[in-house]
Amino acid sequence: MNSLSYYDRIGGAPVVREVVDSFYVRVLGDDDLKPYFDGVDMPRLKRHMVVLLCSVLGGPDPYEGRDLGEAHAGLGITSQHYDKVGEHLFAVLQAGGVDEDILRDVGLVLAKVKSSIVAEPTETAG
Ligand code: HEM
Repeated sequence: MNSLSYYDRIGGAPVVREVVDSFYVRVLGDDDLKPYFDGVDMPRLKRHMVVLLCSVLGGPDPYEGRDLGEAHAGLGITSQHYDKVGEHLFAVLQAGGVDEDILRDVGLVLAKVKSSIVAEPTETAG
């Protein structure tokens, strides 16, 4: 057993900040995903993502940003694109040497919030 929080085990806020930076480099480098972020205040988005990720990992501060459903409403995010974003997040966590048990739980959280972020599948796939 390990009594440290995931947050402490991965190295706290400085590591989460690095992860989030590399995450958005990957996301914005992905032609399928980039258009969603046109005109978005990226420094602000990164800050919110850092705070959210820290709190999901058991860090000291609560997430006080918008509810995820509200933040993504009207963006028309497809299931496929959601999964791609999840893959980018996994890739950076893995590259950062994050342990399997933490990755597994992050995967569970991603599965849990998917339905509030993805838009109703009214468009044809592809
Ligand atoms: C994988 C799970 C995801 C998490 C945990 C997440 C987290 C967040 C957070 C914390 C914010 C900021 C909320 C605020 O401003 O208060 C946000 C905004 C945003 N997210 Fe996500 N997100 C996820 C998936 C996605 C996906 C799949 C896309 C697009 C493909 C996306 C696109 C955006 C955009 C464009 C904004 C800015 C919206 C705006 O400022 O109007 N997100 N997200």
